[in-house]
Amino acid sequence: MPADDFVVTPWNVEGDIDYDKLIKRFGTQKITPELLSKIEKFTNESHFMLRRGIFFSHRDLNRLLDDYEKGKKFFLYTGRGPSGHTHIGHLVPWVFAKWLQDKFGAKMYFQLTDDEKFWSKKDMTLEKTSQFALENALDFIALGFKPENTKIIIDTKNIKTLYPIAAEVAKRINFSNTKAVFGFENETNVGMIFYTSLQSAPCFIEDMPVLIPFGVDQDPHFRITRDVAPKINKPKPALIHNIMIPPLGGTKGKMSGSNENETIYTTDSPETVKKKINKYAFSGGQPDIEEHRKKGGNPDIDVSYQYLRIFFEPDDKKLKQIHDDYKSGKMLTGELKEILIQKINKFLESHQQKREMARDQLDKFLLKD
Ligand code: TRP
Repeated sequence: MPADDFVVTPWNVEGDIDYDKLIKRFGTQKITPELLSKIEKFTNESHFMLRRGIFFSHRDLNRLLDDYEKGKKFFLYTGRGPSGHTHIGHLVPWVFAKWLQDKFGAKMYFQLTDDEKFWSKKDMTLEKTSQFALENALDFIALGFKPENTKIIIDTKNIKTLYPIAAEVAKRINFSNTKAVFGFENETNVGMIFYTSLQSAPCFIEDMPVLIPFGVDQDPHFRITRDVAPKINKPKPALIHNIMIPPLGGTKGKMSGSNENETIYTTDSPETVKKKINKYAFSGGQPDIEEHRKKGGNPDIDVSYQYLRIFFEPDDKKLKQIHDDYKSGKMLTGELKEILIQKINKFLESHQQKREMARDQLDKFLLKD
């Protein structure tokens, strides 16, 4: 891969992602100002993640909203591959999904793919991924979902529901197709080759169209799902994509459980958060204070600023103040980091309480089939 290039696949994200280029490569639609006002018309609120382009791309969202206007309901679906504890990058589409659910009164399905992560990670056991599935479910529930309109699917537990749908889908995906999309090789285990059928299954679980909010790296799966949909007489899923959350070490690639030091987990203690941000958060500041005061920092590449923009500072005015102060040199890197540490720890204190309370609730959310 050339130094200025990037890779985005469900199992690998690398390099400095140019999102306009990615839209072209993937063949998705950019979220236009017109589409934003259309969403606002239904929700009566402008969500900061939409305003700021954290959700930047879609497929068929216009169609879905037009149908909704005519009285056609839709449901929501998203998921998580439980390969470890939840990190703050995972929360982006989930928080947004909760907002969509509240605004559109839609039913939500959340898929935990314990089989997928067992297949895709060399040293994972199925026991471990199944355990993490339950742990990740707590984070999802903690965001305020209600068991009345939210169901959690765990692949190895709910295969009875998924399998008949996955079988229909699998018959319409051939090997050369999935190989071309994911770059599979002869050594790839056959679980992986079958897997897209399982991730597709929840799209067709209800007899109405679906909207899926998720990180854009998963788009290749749903590109296949959308090709299959008409062949099984189902509507194509509508998709809305968020950008990848950068790892602490820099604005390249994505936050990933494979590097613990570059990742803030929802289970981290306040001390750990402080240590990780201070030690590892890539700074857009100058090498010393004098120079920083003179030249100012660069918020575009500063990871702490980016986390505030993406998740932790929804207030545009406050964000702009931080942006301007940092850029002018008035605010130092240490001060910016301190703001982020406070924000994350405040969020996690309450999240971790809700997460513990979710343990008693969990059973009510699990799909019974
Ligand atoms: N494959 C996803 C992952 O590794 C998990 C997943 C399953 C998912 N269904 C989904 C993600 C639907 C987004 C939307 O995280």
